[in-house]
Parts: sequence; C-alpha cells; structure tokens
Amino acid sequence: MMSSVRVEPLPDVRALIGEGPLWEESEQTLLFVDIMGKKIHRWSSASNQIASLDTGAPVGFAVAARGGGYVAGVGRSFSSVDWSTGAVTSLVTVDDDKPQNRLNDGKVDPTGRLFAGTMGLEQSPGQVQMKRGALFSLDSKLKLQKLLDQVSISNGLDWSSDGRSFFYVDSLEKSVDVFDYDVNTGNIENRRVLYRLQPAEGLPDGLTLDSDGNIWVSCYDGGRVLQLHPETGALLQTVSLPVSKTTSCCFGGRDYSDLFVTSASLGLSQSELSAQPLAGATFRVSGLGVKGRPPVEFSGTVLK
Ligand code: BGC
Ligand code: CA
Repeated sequence: MMSSVRVEPLPDVRALIGEGPLWEESEQTLLFVDIMGKKIHRWSSASNQIASLDTGAPVGFAVAARGGGYVAGVGRSFSSVDWSTGAVTSLVTVDDDKPQNRLNDGKVDPTGRLFAGTMGLEQSPGQVQMKRGALFSLDSKLKLQKLLDQVSISNGLDWSSDGRSFFYVDSLEKSVDVFDYDVNTGNIENRRVLYRLQPAEGLPDGLTLDSDGNIWVSCYDGGRVLQLHPETGALLQTVSLPVSKTTSCCFGGRDYSDLFVTSASLGLSQSELSAQPLAGATFRVSGLGVKGRPPVEFSGTVLK
C-alpha cells in the first residue's frame, strides 16, 4: 500500500503559513489560506490554476456558508467573504480584551455550527504568550459561545461521524485530545489525551478524520502527517512530506481519496529554505487507499 503513495506539490503558491485546506465539491476546487500572507487561495483542479483574495489581516481559516460566500477568521473577527467582489466584512469579534490575539484554525460541526479558536501574539513561529487564547462556537444566528479558555495555540479540530466525539489540538500541549460532544447543545466535556506526540513529531497542528473515523494530524516541525486510531490513539501510519512545517490537511479530489497537506515557510532559516525548496507549498498525497468526508457548510447566512 505505502509504495503506491505519491506526494506532489500544487503549482505556484509558496505560503508564509499555508493552512485550513477545504475541498469544494461543486467546483472541484481546494480552498486554503496563507495566514501571514493575509490571503485566501483557491486552486482549481480542472485548470490547475490558483486564484487569490486579499483579507487585509492574518486569516486563520475560511469555510463555506450555506447561503453562499465564506466565513473567515480575519484577525479577531469572524468575517464574511464575498469571493465575487472581494469584500471582507466583520460579523462578530472575539477576545476584545486581548487586542493582540488572532483567530487560528476553524471548522464546521456536523450540524452546521462553526468552531474556531484563538492564540496570543506569536513573537516567532511557535513562540506565543501561553494560555491567552480560547475556543469559540458560532451558531446559525451568529450567536457566539466561549467553550474553552486558557488555550495557547488553538488548532486542529474535527468530529466523529456520529457527532459524539470532538477531537482537538492545542499545539503547545503537544497532544491530540478528545472530548465528548453533544450535537444538540454544541457542548464539549470530559477532555482526555488521545495521543501524545514524540519529540521528533514536532507540534500537532491541523487535523481531519477519514471515512473510517481515523484521525490524520499534521505535525508542525515534524514534516509528516500521522494517522491515529480514534479510540485507542494507536499510531497507524506516518506519511512523510518533503518540508518540515506541515500545518494542516483535508481529504478531497474525486471521491475524496486525495489528502491535501498545507505547509509553512515562515520561521525557516536561509539554509533550511534552500534545503526545502517546497516549503510553503500545498501537497496532494494520492494512493493512500483511504477516503475522506465532504466538509459541512456553516448554517448561517453571511451575504446580503
Ligand atoms: C499557527 C502558527 C503556529 C503553528 C504552530 C499554526 O496553526 O497558525 O502561527 O506557529 O500553528 O503550532
Ligand atoms: Ca493550524
């Protein structure tokens, strides 16, 4: 199986911090962000071209909304994004008492609620003021709820298909955690550690579940993606990438059998950059013999 695995970069974009990949089935496109490049990119599998939109401030994630448009985490704002006009409009802000914070990773739960978290000011990559961030949810009425406090770098998140488990990463805890989830209320409880990363695996970052329920977690400074068992936390396989700062991943492509992996170049020295000419690229990994699940759209209306 592993011998047929192929890793190839998508063209053109070398992001500062590539993140938040999201497959858009209707257009067969891959959406992803460059957090510090302040851009949302959209790669078309049909034309192999990338189109980009400026967000004007660091952008942690972008997800599709049911009535059209996207919701993106821009600075400390959940903002609507109209791709056709390029308009980015703040809907709700978070962490108003911590002006240096910014939104980081976000994703939509099985019922259409949006979850996203924040982090404090990053002095240099991976160096943040500890426990300044939080985790929030936003419902279809744009009502905000704070679910967790004291988060250092709010990162990867996803839910089991039955909606009963919520998987979550605070990168500086160096573990992948799991909570019991209540899809009706959106509450999380009973946090426990599912997998603790080895030093060589770096920091846990973005994650996604496949259609068998296994977890794929990107390892920042680990140059790899790990596949984990959702109940035992057993390490099932490791996929190596030709860059060290692998940041996030999602399944997509025809029948969701490709794994797309984003990466960062920010924080690499000149010599590291010359040793990793593909740093900042987004990669397509094919031949894993695994499929993903379609992403869920945010249930709120964000465009007029
Ligand atoms: C953040 C980066 C951070 C990295 C390491 C990413 O999700 O956006 O700013 O350095 O995680 O944990
Ligand atoms: Ca991330």
